Amino acid sequence: MKLDDIKKIAVMGAGDMGHGIAEVALLAGYKVAMRDVEQRFVDKGLQRITESLVKLTEKQKISEDNKTAMLGNIETFVDVGDAVKDADFIIEAAPEIMDIKKKLFEELDKLTPKHAVLASNTSNMSITDIASVTGRPENVVGMHFFNPAVLMNLVEVIKGDKTSEETMQLTYDLATKMNKVPVRVEKDSVGFIFNRVNAPASILLGAIVERGLATPEEIDARMKKIGMPMGPYELMDYVGLDVAYHGALYLAERLSPEYMPPKWLKEKIDAGDLGKKTGKGVYDWSAGRPAIDLAKAKEDFDPTDMVAIQVNEATKLLEQGVAKSADDIDKAMANGGGGGIGPFQLAKGIGFDKLAKRCEELATEYGVESFKPTETLKKGNI
Ligand code: 3HC
Repeated sequence: MKLDDIKKIAVMGAGDMGHGIAEVALLAGYKVAMRDVEQRFVDKGLQRITESLVKLTEKQKISEDNKTAMLGNIETFVDVGDAVKDADFIIEAAPEIMDIKKKLFEELDKLTPKHAVLASNTSNMSITDIASVTGRPENVVGMHFFNPAVLMNLVEVIKGDKTSEETMQLTYDLATKMNKVPVRVEKDSVGFIFNRVNAPASILLGAIVERGLATPEEIDARMKKIGMPMGPYELMDYVGLDVAYHGALYLAERLSPEYMPPKWLKEKIDAGDLGKKTGKGVYDWSAGRPAIDLAKAKEDFDPTDMVAIQVNEATKLLEQGVAKSADDIDKAMANGGGGGIGPFQLAKGIGFDKLAKRCEELATEYGVESFKPTETLKKGNI
């Protein structure tokens, strides 16, 4: 299939990611089918798309006529078969639970036209495993957007063991047509690039709260003071504590038990406090975004610690051939979040030797093997 042959995109899921991806597809001029398991979820998703398009109209990024045309280009469904029967490209944005994804891909394989590409927006999970339940693994690919999809530039395009080059290129071209910055992930490795490079920070952030070394607000205030648009705990709430929790469980199973979610996070999940989407998580969101008091910043928390463990993890991706180059990793990291700069670019300013030494210290301080510096980091010169 060629890029021009894609006329209709079906998005499976109307939640935080699903509705955002559907909106991105509408903005690129596609006909869109958006599906979720209950009518009230698709209705909510459509309402969020409408609100976002209104915002874009107010900012004159799109015209009133554009907005009306886009809202005419989307249909919503609860039945999978009805949603996908004439779709050329499907993007799955279901919960991060492998059994749910596999069951859905089995259905998609039966119900979609034979030529259709089946893409997963999974944050972490193996594209190869997801593809294994279909009769067309060459047409199955990872297409990973970032939250909020309409504003974040990065799309990771992930190659499963059997994904064809044609499917990789088509997905890359589609992301470009959607005005995104695609980065190829050459190997199907847990967390891909963006979430993997950030993964060790979740161990550090978990431990800081678990040990009572600082409160989330003290760390968030510190990170916001150096220019991050959101603090790391605020971001967890924004993306969803359930996403963080299930992601951590998957990393614990696949990478190291050190990724096991901390007790405080499990308690929040058990209490149903999932962050922004439920009105409460680490913070109270019932009256909108939490007001983080910058005066509470923990000044002796050094943000370089976050950079050190990020760069170290990024070198593992180079060693394993997950990313083609340090530049690709920087491109992904600069475009996936609100930081705007890649870890290797930062490391060049700080010094690889200094960061390797700090990783060694952090590994000892926290007793975390995953923080230990790689040979590549110790050698520097990247
Ligand atoms: N549609 C349209 N406009 C939107 C919008 C949406 N969905 N969401 C926010 N905006 C607009 C706001 O209306 C606001 O417009 P204004 O300037 O005219 O008032 C503008 O964007 C900025 O928003 P805010 O003033 O509310 O706040 P910020 O300046 O902090 O920007 C943000 C919001 C762009 C989300 C910024 O905080 C940010 O970049 N945060 C980091 C996000 C991030 O790191 N995402 C990646 C998460 S990891 C992930 O997704 C991986 C996955 O696998 C889980």
